[in-house]
Amino acid sequence: MRQAGHAAAKILGLVATHVRAGISTAEVDRVAADLIREHGCTSAFLGYRNYPANICVSLNDEVVHGIGRSSRIIRDGDIVKLDVGVYLNGWVGDNATTVPVGDIDPDTWRLLQATEDSLDAAISLARHNNSLRDLCGSVEKLVTRHGFTVVRQFVGHGVGRRLHEEPQVPNWADPSIRTKLKAGMILAIEPMINMGRGKTRVLADNWTAVTVDGRPSSHFEHTVLITQGDPEILTPRARLTSPLPLPS
Ligand code: CO
Repeated sequence: MRQAGHAAAKILGLVATHVRAGISTAEVDRVAADLIREHGCTSAFLGYRNYPANICVSLNDEVVHGIGRSSRIIRDGDIVKLDVGVYLNGWVGDNATTVPVGDIDPDTWRLLQATEDSLDAAISLARHNNSLRDLCGSVEKLVTRHGFTVVRQFVGHGVGRRLHEEPQVPNWADPSIRTKLKAGMILAIEPMINMGRGKTRVLADNWTAVTVDGRPSSHFEHTVLITQGDPEILTPRARLTSPLPLPS
């Protein structure tokens, strides 16, 4: 899992360096396909429930699961969510980030900061004998304080030999969650956070999720191992943003 995670993180970072104004999201997917192969991996998304692309490339109001298209051109001021999941030697690594292109709107930057903060908050609670519900609730608690909202249509997940394993990892304190975290569990923690309303819908391509109000959405994800001590991020990378101070 560590090897798969490190490969997924490296590929995500390399794909991110290719994102720039003027290229299409299909080109980003092609770059990713090459990198996945060059690292001895296969896409964990391609063919999953008939998903037709190698990674997810989602712009602005697209929340997750954007399919690369040659007609979808990246522009200055866009935010580009990249989600990369790979198999390596039968194990999955899954991670995502949001890439700002050129100068982005200051409120959108704060959205990215709050989302990255919420991922870190959740990871800090990924400890042996902690409650999964508290981990999940920490995401909503933090982003709500900044005036942002949590997407409820999609959740994080356990990950291992398969992309999606138990338990579900929602980004809110769902009362149905009873799981106690134990050393050895591996979670894909993935806050999906909206600037406006949390409501999302899926486009006619059956995959691309967009915000109903058309305002931007942000997504960061890590694969995280629970240990007897500190959580181990299996998909390590440097943070994009600095933490956003909480309003008083
Ligand atoms: Co995931």
